[in-house]
Amino acid sequence: MSINYSEKIPNNVDLANDRTLQRALEHWQPRFLDWWREMGPNDFAAADVYLRTAVGVDAQGWANYGAVKMPDYRWGIFLADPLPGRTVGFGDTYGQPVWQQVPGEYRSQFRRLIVTQGDTEPASVEQQHLLGHTCPSLYDLRNLFQVNVEEGRHLWAMVYLLHAYFGRDGREEAEELLARHSGDPDKPRILGTFNEPIEDWLSFYCFTYFTDRDGKFQLKSLAESSFDPLARTCRFMLTEEAHHMFVGETGIGRVVKRALEVMKEIGSDDPTSVRNQGAIDLPLIQRYLNFWFSSSLDLFGSEVSSNAAASFASGIKGRPDETTQYQDHVCAEASFELAMPDGKGGIRQESASMRNAMNEIVRNAYIRDCEIGVKRWNMQIKRAGSDFELKLPSSRFRRAIGAWANVPTDVEGNPISREEFERKLPDWLPSAADRAYVKSLMQRVTAPGKMAAWIAPPDRGINNLPVDYEYVRLG
Ligand SMILES: [Fe+2]
Ligand SMILES: [Fe+2]
Repeated sequence: MSINYSEKIPNNVDLANDRTLQRALEHWQPRFLDWWREMGPNDFAAADVYLRTAVGVDAQGWANYGAVKMPDYRWGIFLADPLPGRTVGFGDTYGQPVWQQVPGEYRSQFRRLIVTQGDTEPASVEQQHLLGHTCPSLYDLRNLFQVNVEEGRHLWAMVYLLHAYFGRDGREEAEELLARHSGDPDKPRILGTFNEPIEDWLSFYCFTYFTDRDGKFQLKSLAESSFDPLARTCRFMLTEEAHHMFVGETGIGRVVKRALEVMKEIGSDDPTSVRNQGAIDLPLIQRYLNFWFSSSLDLFGSEVSSNAAASFASGIKGRPDETTQYQDHVCAEASFELAMPDGKGGIRQESASMRNAMNEIVRNAYIRDCEIGVKRWNMQIKRAGSDFELKLPSSRFRRAIGAWANVPTDVEGNPISREEFERKLPDWLPSAADRAYVKSLMQRVTAPGKMAAWIAPPDRGINNLPVDYEYVRLG
């Protein structure tokens, strides 16, 4: 079904023929807009932003591009087309028809999953709501706003499911999604990382690279769900999500590129000398990667989890790319090897049932995906003749959740003493001085085509437009 743009809420779920649902969502819509005006990039409400808007769910030509004032963005409800004859792809009911309604016995699990996913979407908009003031270019400002409006649409996607499939509890949860706020001491967002403000653009690129990528993997897992409306919703969200990953990967890549240019100009890789030229030195970038990677790993949960096993067994949440990446979709007998702390300062191998290790399996898939960008940045560094190498720290490093929570290790994942960990931490994580330096660089640049001195221009513009196109006309 195509998307109906003549409706108040654009959708491809035939909202016009479900009056009750339509009224409920039209009731929620002004509250969403109030939230956007209050908690979103409100200081840029009058700006014309070159944004893409979803207009279809077909991979070819699903979006339109044009100048829009953000409060007029057309947030809508779009589900990917149903796959005819789709069956349960994993777990105990493998091969049976998928569900068009939520089975009563899994209702609370599904509601929790949808609410948790839904909560991260507006949270990230809130985290970033002042960032526009320090944009390094109009191109980047536009990308920030593109990510923001799409996270807003992802909230719509989850709210639709709550309203359409969870009755009164669903409507109440939808209200709560607008009542919790990132960093609010009384009503914080559900997941820890989403309560940290994002105050500089290097953090924003790290967030879109690492934390948004956690979102991608959660969506990939939910896109396998036997609850078909959820699977179809998430499948379409992934189309938009690809751009968010792109913003992160190319953002960090451009900061690296600028550092390399400066290193070449001055013939030195000394961090202080690089900073004297207004660029961000590679060791500082490494510390930012250590910070964001390790905090994003916690979002996948404990290595061994009976909850994860139950939701795999019952067909609620699969592995990312379940159909294409795995042969055994039932995993009733299989086991998985895990490296666990032995409680005496060492590591021991432990075997868990594959189902119990699902969080770890998804985390490993995520780590492999994170490696791809790192490899590209390192190729860039190598081509520039430097022998510096960026590395992801071990997944055991600085964890706050799971078996490795609060177990001191070095960045390679070797257990070390608490004392050594505390002593070396300033080498591994951004120091107050690093953060202050990055902050000092955050000066807004808004002449079309101009870039801040700490970041290289992108290779190309958006939608075949030149880099110096006026992507945002500030009102
Ligand atoms: Fe999202
Ligand atoms: Fe995203």
